[in-house]
Amino acid sequence: AKIDWETGAAEKGNYPHFMLKEIFEQPETVENAIRGRLDHEMASAILSGIGLSPRELLQIGHIVIAGCGSSMHAGLVGEYYFEDLAGISTSVEQAAEFRYRNPIIEPNTLVIPISQSGETADTIAAVREAAAKGAIVTALCNVVGSTIAREAGRGIYLHAGPEISVASTKAFLSQVVVLLLFALLLGRNRRLSRSRGAELVAEIEQIPDLIREVLEQALEIKKIASRYAHVDDFFFIGRGCLYPTALEGALKLKEISYIHAEGYHAAELKHGPISLLDEKHPVMALANDIPGRDKILGNIQECRARKAPVVAIATRGDRAIRDLTQDVIEIPPCSRFVAPLPTAVALQLFAYYIAAERGCEIDQPRNLAKSVTVE
Ligand code: G6P
Repeated sequence: AKIDWETGAAEKGNYPHFMLKEIFEQPETVENAIRGRLDHEMASAILSGIGLSPRELLQIGHIVIAGCGSSMHAGLVGEYYFEDLAGISTSVEQAAEFRYRNPIIEPNTLVIPISQSGETADTIAAVREAAAKGAIVTALCNVVGSTIAREAGRGIYLHAGPEISVASTKAFLSQVVVLLLFALLLGRNRRLSRSRGAELVAEIEQIPDLIREVLEQALEIKKIASRYAHVDDFFFIGRGCLYPTALEGALKLKEISYIHAEGYHAAELKHGPISLLDEKHPVMALANDIPGRDKILGNIQECRARKAPVVAIATRGDRAIRDLTQDVIEIPPCSRFVAPLPTAVALQLFAYYIAAERGCEIDQPRNLAKSVTVE
């Protein structure tokens, strides 16, 4: 392992950590995930690796997504995509739960295992269980030729390139993008109109630029992060697609900075966590201008009333949020479907700069492995 590490050090380029390098690679890695996969004429997506005809796609009655860690969080974003764009009921299972709870798998169930490495033991077991039950299995993997990619037999590669940092960044973004492409394809195969499809195609093409705009604010984000580097706890709240994004933001922070961080649906704040809020319990509020933003504004007020410091992620130019808190990270305007992507990048940078200020190992956090190959 030591030798790998030393060889790897040469590939960091000018970056102090692989994680930062991988964060900054994301405009390109997302471009790679999209390349050749948009069908402008049909206002749809082309995903040849899934190996299903339009007729077979039409027969899918239910989708079950299985994964662990960041891959599971990507799946939770995907749940919104499949239900909203394609009208297919979708459930997301922690891969270990999928394996032991006897999930309902019918011949028209599509199981989507998601795994960067393709080697996570629980996700491999979920693939085997799904196949044994006769489900159609289509895997989302980054590592070509990995166990899950091979065993599933069909799937969509992420094309994110090697991810060295234990905390996933670019693979997560590619997973979300590929899920959006898949939902677009299923949607166009069913009820999604051509014009909605075309709008989505145009938005997907904008994603690399949205990410670039967030990366350009790295110094701003670093400044805000330095004001929070000393805290012991952090709550992350969001709604809609930004709810799983909040879970992922909290995971990033706890993985690399060892700060206790919890992601919550913003509406759950009142069902428990609010009892903890005070000046020592900051809140990261994902308040982008998408449906639910007004409710989040209310949640920010509730937090401020309890003296909890709030960092808000908001759409550029949102003055109402500036009135509630000084610490605002701005995201370019975008729809609710693509909002998780630039937002996740901002959260990655936030976690990174806090961990850097605390002097953490970052690329290889204590007790964590890049891929968990045991149960
Ligand atoms: C480990 C890693 C995480 C990753 C998870 C799932 O916990 O530290 O970063 O999200 O495994 O890995 P996979 O390779 O299956 O996506």
